[in-house]
Amino acid sequence: METLKVKTPEGTYPIFIGADILTPHTAFARSSFLTQVLGQTEQVCALITNPTVARLHAARVVEALRAHGFAPRVFEIPDGEQFKNLATVSAVYDQLIDARLERNAILFALGGGVVGDLAGFVAATYLRGVPFVQLPTTLLAMVDSSVGGKVAVDHPRGKNLIGAFKQPRAVIADTHTLTTLPATEWRAGMAEAIKHGIIGDPELFAQLEHGNGRLTIDAWLPRAIRVKVDVVQRDPFEQGERTKLNLGHTFGHALEKLSQFSLRHGDAVAIGVVCAARLATQLQVCDAALAARIENVLRALELPVRVPRDMPADAILEAMQSDKKRVGARVRFVLPRALGEACIVDDVPREMVIRVIEELRVQV
Ligand SMILES: NC(=O)c1ccc[n+]([C@@H]2O[C@H](COP(=O)([O-])OP(=O)(O)OC[C@H]3O[C@@H](n4cnc5c(N)ncnc54)[C@H](O)[C@@H]3O)[C@@H](O)[C@H]2O)c1
Repeated sequence: METLKVKTPEGTYPIFIGADILTPHTAFARSSFLTQVLGQTEQVCALITNPTVARLHAARVVEALRAHGFAPRVFEIPDGEQFKNLATVSAVYDQLIDARLERNAILFALGGGVVGDLAGFVAATYLRGVPFVQLPTTLLAMVDSSVGGKVAVDHPRGKNLIGAFKQPRAVIADTHTLTTLPATEWRAGMAEAIKHGIIGDPELFAQLEHGNGRLTIDAWLPRAIRVKVDVVQRDPFEQGERTKLNLGHTFGHALEKLSQFSLRHGDAVAIGVVCAARLATQLQVCDAALAARIENVLRALELPVRVPRDMPADAILEAMQSDKKRVGARVRFVLPRALGEACIVDDVPREMVIRVIEELRVQV
């Protein structure tokens, strides 16, 4: 098991990463690590999850929590991004109130980014805030959403518009849970892991380039998480450097939106990363060999690397301009400069963006 520490303005929390750390009867489960990390808290606690994850992993996790002295009550929210909203939050509040959960009761979030974001938002607001622990079960949630303290729900006018900063007390990433992850969800997480290699860790990138990610996960997952940790430690409230985590997302969000969300987020990010790399070569920010390596590693993981044929370049540009991450009138791009190094550019000529999209569009 590996442990990383995250320093935040409110204190430090640990991230535990390893296989079977949420399995009862392992040495880890027998240790009193959780009670040590969490301190003197209510034994009654809430485990928020969804039916998909509950069916696969809740029984084992409940037993592991019991081994740590907790008495978890399981609450399920429906599975899907469309339920990451205030109506679901309100339903969870009702259940917590009915169960008389008090302010020192811990809320555990067992699931992917949707469960983590929603349960985190509940934890930030229920009784003016209760402690919470992230138990991420998707690769994306492990490398990205469970770390950094951003919690949110969607609003009819846009994704993640209602949220808070709420740091978890701990993150426990049990890689055993990934054995049940569907291939599409695996690929979505890999797109983010590669992004982390590009912006912060050349060795991680090389590991993902050369090895079978699933088989070697214990070797590279802590590195992929560490990139996020380093960035959020330097920029806890997203005022600057955290923008680098959006590599591939300026193009990616626009593609997702134009596809009316039929294009999956991870796939859109992969195409977006390829677009950003190509744009970087056009601007002579990075060399063509790096752009080719980036494209190859994403392709090898069966992620898409071409802009869909039915998306005209000007429509993509327009969708980018309405993105909430835009600063002033300019579209902001995160571009790879070298492996492990990204820069932020917001004065890219429109024609150049159009040219890159046209070059990368699937030809008839
Ligand atoms: N807070 C942040 O900083 C941050 C960062 C990135 C993304 N996000 C958010 O994360 C969400 C996406 O997260 P996601 O990609 O994990 O999607 P998700 O939570 O919807 O999970 C994807 C699917 O996998 C299922 N699943 C989860 N774990 C499983 C397992 N171990 N085995 C089998 N199936 C499993 C889920 O039930 C779901 O159907 C979005 O809402 C996004 O806004 C937040």
